[in-house]
Amino acid sequence: MRIDVVSIFPEYLAPLRLSLLGRAQEDGLLSLAVHDLRDFTFDRHRTVDDTPYGGGAGMVMKPEPWALALERVLEEQLAHDGAGLGPAPRRPVLVVPSPAGEVFTQAMAYELAEQPTLAFACGRYEGIDERVLEWAGEHFDVRPVSLGDYVLNGGEVAVMAMVEAVGRLLPGVVGNPESLVEESHADGLLEYPVYTKPASWRGHDVPDVLLSGNHGKIASWRLEQQLRRTAARRPELLDGADASSYGKSERAV
Ligand code: ADE
Repeated sequence: MRIDVVSIFPEYLAPLRLSLLGRAQEDGLLSLAVHDLRDFTFDRHRTVDDTPYGGGAGMVMKPEPWALALERVLEEQLAHDGAGLGPAPRRPVLVVPSPAGEVFTQAMAYELAEQPTLAFACGRYEGIDERVLEWAGEHFDVRPVSLGDYVLNGGEVAVMAMVEAVGRLLPGVVGNPESLVEESHADGLLEYPVYTKPASWRGHDVPDVLLSGNHGKIASWRLEQQLRRTAARRPELLDGADASSYGKSERAV
């Protein structure tokens, strides 16, 4: 997969070169390009913002540098893999992190992981001039996405979270794909508690069933724990859920 990120703080994204995703890049499973929005300005101050029409607090990101940056992204994505055009023409996905977007979920991570390319536009200040999103819609499938119902200072931290969530789903990135099946949200429930040695520690014992060697019993205990935990912490996940998928991931990896 090819991922392009546009930001005024490209260094913010540096941690995406570490750990599992860093290895995925070394192994050629993921190609990540980070673009500095200020490289697409022409004035001495490399200006990317201006005051809002209609008044109000803060500054708004100017449209001109965004169009040039996103045109560069389109060119590079096309050069990278023919933009995955193949037989059926495809509009590349452009994710715009915003507290006003649809909420990011594991299901969306799976959906994005199927794309040959992804682009992310990191807004700062009060946001990006809305016309950038309108114009970008002529070239991209534009998706404003929120990490959750709170406000960050800009899109960079949200992009780090989304790129990590998507990148780890790419084939070959996580060493043992079984671990993707058993984790939280894989089957619509929170994951069960886990334990390791020693069996007894500071007066706290590992549940007996996990030492029993009875795999059937262990599986039912784990499912029960998932249900209890989900009911206690995230009851809304159980509303309208398909109970027949519990204990099995709907996604074979
Ligand atoms: N930018 C600012 N707040 C955000 C949020 N909650 N999610 C995504 N991008 C953001």
